[in-house]
Formats: sequence, C-alpha cells, structure tokens
Amino acid sequence: MEVIRTISDLRRRLSTENETCCVPTMGNIHDGHLSLVKIGKERAPTVITTIFVNRLQFSQSDDFAHYPRTFDDDCEKLAVAGNDIVFCPDEDQMYPEPQLFFIDPPKVAKRLEGRFRPGHFRGVCTVVTKLFNVVQPQHAVFGKKDYQQLAIIRELTEQLALPINIVSAETVRAEDGLALSSRNRFLTETERSEAPRLRDTMNKIKTAILDGDRKYVAMEYAAGASLARYGWNVDYVVIRAQKGLRRPTEGESKLVVLGAATLGSTRLIDNLEINVE
Ligand code: PAJ
Repeated sequence: MEVIRTISDLRRRLSTENETCCVPTMGNIHDGHLSLVKIGKERAPTVITTIFVNRLQFSQSDDFAHYPRTFDDDCEKLAVAGNDIVFCPDEDQMYPEPQLFFIDPPKVAKRLEGRFRPGHFRGVCTVVTKLFNVVQPQHAVFGKKDYQQLAIIRELTEQLALPINIVSAETVRAEDGLALSSRNRFLTETERSEAPRLRDTMNKIKTAILDGDRKYVAMEYAAGASLARYGWNVDYVVIRAQKGLRRPTEGESKLVVLGAATLGSTRLIDNLEINVE
C-alpha cells in the first residue's frame, strides 16, 4: 500500500489511473471504515482512502485537538483490507492559506446535526469538495452512519454536477448493536454498556411504525424521555423522510429515525431506515 502526503505526488501517481474510488475519512480506522474500502474495491481497481482531520468541521466545543490520531495502526488495517493508496495531507497541503472560499450548504445542513454543530456541514462540504478535486475519483463511498452527511454530499455532488458516483454503505455495528465510531473509545465501561440503548430505542420506534403506529411526534417524545431517564442528554430523536430529511407527510413510506445524544461527555449519533410496505 502506498502512502502519499502531497497533492502534487498524488496527482502524478493517479495520472495513469482510469477508474478510482475515494473513501474520505478522518482516520482512527475501524471496521466501519474498512467496509467502505471493501465496497470501494468492488467499484474500482484503485481505492484511495484519505485521512485528514478537518479543522473546519469542528466547532470550538468539539475537540479537534483530541481527535484520535492513530496513523500507523490505520495503515496496517487499511493494507489488510486491500486499500491501495492512503492520502494523508498535512494541514498546509489542504489549507495552505487560510481557506477563504467555502461551500455553503443549503437549509438541510442547518437542521439536526447542523443545529447542534453550527458550521459543521460547511466544513464537511468544503473539505470533501477539495478532496474530490484533488483525487478526481469516479466513485466515492460514504457511510449511512452519518446519514445527514451522506444526504448533503449527494445533493452537493448533484447540484455542482461533480462527475462522481456517490455510493452508500450500511452502518457496521458491534455485536450488541452499538454503531462503530471513533468516539466509542471515550466511553467509560459503564457508559459502553449503556450505549446500545440509543439504537434499541430507535429500534422500538421502527417496530411500532412497522406495526402501523403513525403518531410520530408522540413516539419521538417518548424515545427522548426514555433515554433521559437512563442519564442521556438528548439532542434529538426524530422521524424523518429519507429524502430531504423533512418531516414525513401522511403515507410517506421511506422513513428514517435519526438520533443524537450524549452519554457522560461522549456524543453519539445513530439512525435506522424504515421502509413501510
Ligand atoms: P469519519 O468520521 O472518519 O468517517 C468516514 C466515513 O466512514 C464516513 O463516510 C462515515 O459515515 C463512515 N463510517 C463511520 N462509522 C461507520 C460505521 N460504523 N459503519 C459504516 N460507515 C461508517 O465522516 C467523516 O469522517 C468526515 O466528516 C469526512 C467525510 C471524512 C470529511 O472530513
């Protein structure tokens, strides 16, 4: 596996490639990321995983400085998974001057995660656009774990007519159902055993909806209150239409439950798609 650190080296290396797939990450690679690489390998002969902890998408309260950086470990895992190239630019490669141009996402980026992390998606869209320009892949894989991010990147790619096929990957979970995340390492032992409750609570909503319950607001409220009773600080548990992440209209059949809540000092997000027959 090759490790490339500068834009010019990467451009030179990729100049002979016809079809590539890009997997953007911030490192601290786990099985969720590796599933993206595997999907990437099915799409293109050459997979480029990018590792860049993007300062622009962290707000002040988010801890950019403490984001886990585990580069050697990451490379070992990526190599085993069949990744071809790791692109890991330094900050001055990606943002040589202060970045003065930004991709300003539309209203959907102000809701849900955007409400609790102002500016987050502006940072994500700016860095992903820049990575796309640098790698110029034909395909790029994103996880459903970050459902709103995936929706926004799809929209961005479409609206700016980027010639890139956006591929989505299912959320990889631990045995007890907790979605894998770089943040899980910050959970204490007690918190770790409590953590699957977020998914379990959303699963109850899914079962109720599949059983015919349509009292969405009441279900959202009950889910939030139930998590709060177990010590969670709930940002939101909501039921939305998969497309556009709007409030569902009557008869909407493609739904998603999205949740974000903090346990101790660790904020977790998760979601579950619901396809009503
Ligand atoms: P990061 O959190 O490192 O995630 C990189 C990719 O892995 C994202 O597409 C994310 O949805 C996916 N992912 C994370 N956990 C997953 C899981 N348990 N199962 C499946 N996929 C999972 O998301 C980012 O980085 C950044 O915002 C980025 C897009 C790289 C821009 O900086």
